[in-house]
Amino acid sequence: MTMAILVSNSKGGCGKTTLATNLAAAFAQGGLRTALADVDRQKSSLNWLKRRPRDLPRIDGLNWTRKFEAPGKDIQRLVIDAPAAISVERFRELLRLSQAILLPVLPSAFDQAATRRFLKKIDELKPIRRNKKPLAIVGNRVRARTRSAKELEDFLRTLEHPVAAYITDRSLYTDGAYSGVSIFDKEDRRARAAQADWSSLITFLETS
Ligand SMILES: Nc1ncnc2c1ncn2[C@@H]1O[C@H](COP(=O)(O)OP(=O)(O)OP(=O)(O)O)[C@@H](O)[C@H]1O
Ligand SMILES: [Mg+2]
Repeated sequence: MTMAILVSNSKGGCGKTTLATNLAAAFAQGGLRTALADVDRQKSSLNWLKRRPRDLPRIDGLNWTRKFEAPGKDIQRLVIDAPAAISVERFRELLRLSQAILLPVLPSAFDQAATRRFLKKIDELKPIRRNKKPLAIVGNRVRARTRSAKELEDFLRTLEHPVAAYITDRSLYTDGAYSGVSIFDKEDRRARAAQADWSSLITFLETS
């Protein structure tokens, strides 16, 4: 059976593609047959896959910009990269195909306000309201001991959804966006430190 994880937030630039690509690579590195579905017309995830070195664990790419083509039967994990400015209707269609939802949020007053508005809309959808499909927040580009990190934590505490992880702002992510390499494809000290941020997120997905 395929477990599908939807990565979405109507706010642009909050880290949807970074989260989706690295999560897909984490699954692939863990030996799971993995696909990455790109709903965004900019096709950032699919372009990242094109740059991905052939000797790394394989991730199948699905172009979902027009229609939602089913992944192969053998696919165990499907990560869905949703576009910015997504409508509730489109979100609902993707929700139907997903088992869990991850919502990245930056430590930014503007992003927090936009996220609150987005959540207000999607919290009304039955699978989310009734907690049939778990939704977790992922704090992204967090820099420890900064005012913005503290403000983000305070904000996330006011929401009715769990925080699955706080992901640090690191050049590894921006570098990996160019090279098609995730933080899970490396084993040096910096990569290991980055991977540690994700363990609570992986646990959330495995137990939900
Ligand atoms: N944790 C991080 N550390 C450093 N850079 C990051 C991190 N997360 C995202 N970025 C960078 O921030 C930029 C925006 O991230 P990304 O493209 O993942 O966001 P997005 O939500 O998919 O954007 P869009 O709404 O345009 O699809 C990219 O340049 C990415 O490399
Ligand atoms: Mg994106």
